[in-house]
Amino acid sequence: MASQSKTLFEQFLAPLFSHLIDRDALVRLRDQIDWESAVAEFTNPQVVYPNYYKTSNFHGVENGYLSVDAALTYDPITQYVLPPGETWVRESLVKAIKGEPRRILDLGCGTGTTTRMLKRRFANAEVIGLDLSPQMLAMADYKARAADVAVTFRHGNAMATGLPAASFDVVCATLLFHETPPAVAKTILAEALRLLTPGGQVLVLDGNQRTLRATDWLSNIFEEPFIRDYSQGNVDAWLGYAGFEAVRTDEVFWLNQLSYARKPLPVVDREAAQGEGDRGAETLPLAQPA
Ligand SMILES: C[S@@+](CC[C@H](N)C(=O)[O-])C[C@H]1O[C@@H](n2cnc3c(N)ncnc32)[C@H](O)[C@@H]1O
Repeated sequence: MASQSKTLFEQFLAPLFSHLIDRDALVRLRDQIDWESAVAEFTNPQVVYPNYYKTSNFHGVENGYLSVDAALTYDPITQYVLPPGETWVRESLVKAIKGEPRRILDLGCGTGTTTRMLKRRFANAEVIGLDLSPQMLAMADYKARAADVAVTFRHGNAMATGLPAASFDVVCATLLFHETPPAVAKTILAEALRLLTPGGQVLVLDGNQRTLRATDWLSNIFEEPFIRDYSQGNVDAWLGYAGFEAVRTDEVFWLNQLSYARKPLPVVDREAAQGEGDRGAETLPLAQPA
């Protein structure tokens, strides 16, 4: 019988995942990367790890994301937890991006799966992935090189990236906020607002807060220290609070949600855009009733 002290993750998911994961393939992958030098390459000594990050185990991995084990097992596990399919769920974010952004920032990029998809879709854009874990970044870089996708990875804290203001047309985050305290998520959104050009888009793909609230057992299953706080919150409200406009959240296959919004234009640009809209209306034929 399972011991009382075991979490649901330890009791049910860990044995299931260990059955599904190809251990030999993982060992081969581990041996293909010189972890010591890759981690050194991606470590910025000036980065300070926030407390929540150092003191929590995420999905049962000890030392959280600051371990080679986490970087190796992340992708094999994630493919099973994004129904109806990992690529389909991630594509919902990529497809929601409007226009042709010149610079895109993927916050909490992990092993860079969404980051690579962004570059494939927007080949002319400069795409940067940022994460707090040098191990995850080393894995992301290895995978991007293997796939011949030219993206840049950077060690940093999404709450204070140190990147210049108004330097990105799109800032996004996938599966990041359910792993941070809500106060951290709000700080990250404030940083996203700072980083975006006026009119730029922010996109957040993560667990469906409404579904999580209605199904407590889902929050119990994954060993995620902040998922309950996340599910009690409201990304729409956090976006509005950070100063974004045109905020919207769509359900992505019941289990996930995509929230997106825009950084407001300065008042003078807004008036000019409005004026153009008015002039355009004068020259357009009136729509005929159907
Ligand atoms: C669940 S993973 C998501 C990874 C990736 N975005 C994806 O969709 O697969 C969460 C990632 O967020 C990173 N992370 C957590 N807090 C962060 C922060 N404050 N700044 C940057 N990265 C952070 C973790 O290191 C981890 O790689």
